[in-house]
Order: sequence, then structure tokens, then C-alpha cells
Amino acid sequence: MSNERLIPEEIERVLLDEETIAARVRDLAAQVSADYGDSDDLVLVGVLKGAFIFMADLARQLSVPHRVDFIALSSYNKGSISDGAVRLIMDTRTNLTGRHVLIVEDILDTGYTLDYLLRIFRAREPASLRTCVLLSKPERRKIEVPVDYLGFEIPDVWVVGYGLDYADRFRTLPYIAALKREVYV
Ligand code: XMP
Ligand code: MG
Repeated sequence: MSNERLIPEEIERVLLDEETIAARVRDLAAQVSADYGDSDDLVLVGVLKGAFIFMADLARQLSVPHRVDFIALSSYNKGSISDGAVRLIMDTRTNLTGRHVLIVEDILDTGYTLDYLLRIFRAREPASLRTCVLLSKPERRKIEVPVDYLGFEIPDVWVVGYGLDYADRFRTLPYIAALKREVYV
């Protein structure tokens, strides 16, 4: 077998390569570790499925004690058009009340998903509630949501890899790449 990594033909271009992502994730982990240094009871809540790789890499770089948990959400609509309706498919197992909660999300697009999560988690009265988002498409924002830790801003293109998918494909590519428009439009 060849070690050469093939770029699938549906990919337009690589936006963020493995090294660039790894360096940024290390920075984010250092910031999070510094900020939560003297608080115990930190819970990372990853949003499935998109955040699973980011979450794994971020968590393993943290120098503060933490738990990991996950939630799964679904938008009622499919594809890239979002009307803001979000549904909880799987809740956390951890009781968030009184704990320091950090939501770990793959990408911020319209903002509806993160806004929904912040509202349902706030109602559980955590000791603190912050957000860590790998990617943001600022041009697409419909509703402003607070992001405490941000990896990268990207243009309004559909991206895949490093956890992100198109119809559940391309999730485990090691880089983040733009799909060819004809694939998703
Ligand atoms: P909202 O619009 O609620 O969307 O901020 C956040 C969710 O939309 C998905 N999303 C993407 N997923 N490539 C993906 O794989 C993308 O370019 C993309 N843009 C939005 C994602 O599930 C995120 O949680
Ligand atoms: Mg997704």
C-alpha cells in the first residue's frame, strides 16, 4: 500500500491542513487549560457527530482535569438550509448543574444550533457555560451567539473532514477542505 494520501475528486481545495489544525487545537487547549486552571468539575460537551475528532484532540491536550460527554442534535431540515429548528436526539449523561460546562462544536453557521444549546444548558444552572468552536462562517450568521474559544474563520463554503461531513461522507479526512459546489448545490 502506498502512503500517499489521495484527495477525493469531490474536494475543491484544502483550506486547513493537518499541521495547521493541530497547532490551533494546541493553542485552544492551552487557553482553556489556563482559564479553567483553578476550577474543578470541568465538563466538555461535544456535539455529535461533527465535533468528535476536534473533541478528542482538544481534550487530550488539556492540562486540567475534565470529564467528556456528548449530545446529539438534529436540524429538522436537511442539507445546508437551516430554518433554526433544532431537536435534541441524545442528551448528556452528566448532570450539568453546578459544573463548569464547555460546549465543543465543530462549526458555527447560522448560529441557531449553539443558541439552542446555550438556552437548554443555561436552564440546568451550570456553574459556568462557555463555547469552543473550531470553525465559524461569519457571513452566514442569522443570530449572534457568544464564542469564547474559536479556531478559525472560514468563507461561506461547505467544508468536510476532521469530523465534518457531507451526507456522512468525508468525516475522517485529516484536513478540512471545501467541497466542489456541484456536489452540494
Ligand atoms: P448552525 O446553522 O445551527 O449550524 O450554526 C451548525 C451546524 O451546521 C452544520 N454545518 C456544517 N457541517 N460542513 C459540515 O459538515 C459545513 O460546512 C457546515 N456548515 C454547517 C454542522 O452540523 C453544525 O453543527
Ligand atoms: Mg454535521
